[in-house]
Amino acid sequence: MTRRKILRYPDPRLLTVAKPVTRIDDALRRLIDDMTETMYGSGGIGLAATQIDVHQRVIVMDVSQKRDQLVVLINPVILAAGGSASHDEGCLSVPGTTIRVRRPAWIQVQALDREGDLFEVRADDWEAVCIQHEIEHLDGIVFTDYLPVAQQEKLRKQLATAGNRRR
Ligand code: NI
Repeated sequence: MTRRKILRYPDPRLLTVAKPVTRIDDALRRLIDDMTETMYGSGGIGLAATQIDVHQRVIVMDVSQKRDQLVVLINPVILAAGGSASHDEGCLSVPGTTIRVRRPAWIQVQALDREGDLFEVRADDWEAVCIQHEIEHLDGIVFTDYLPVAQQEKLRKQLATAGNRRR
């Protein structure tokens, strides 16, 4: 397993729309292992392949307290959603920033697991937040889109400057 570099907002590669996975093979399982290592190593609760510059529809997540409940979602599709809830979300691609986002409170999701078997899950609370946030990454959407445009601009400038300082 290799910890991969996470793209930082406002990197334009984060705007790429990921393609569906067509083959569940060893290469894909290696990608999943690397994503898992990267997510746990960065202290995140979810990671979309987009964030490590791989544009396939793969998500890893773990919203458990003990960090021992890894969930892998390949080609996830939201079948139903309802309710409404706000959470202060963070993102490994936008370090040091939380944004309050209102989303459906629960979702019914279908996806393939790492063996390629289809499963369905009804998620709520942080699990629902995380899946929706990560699916948006696969669609090239970063949660900063929920901010007013002027604030997005300000954040983009701040983080671009911070990125330059690190180099
Ligand atoms: Ni994110």
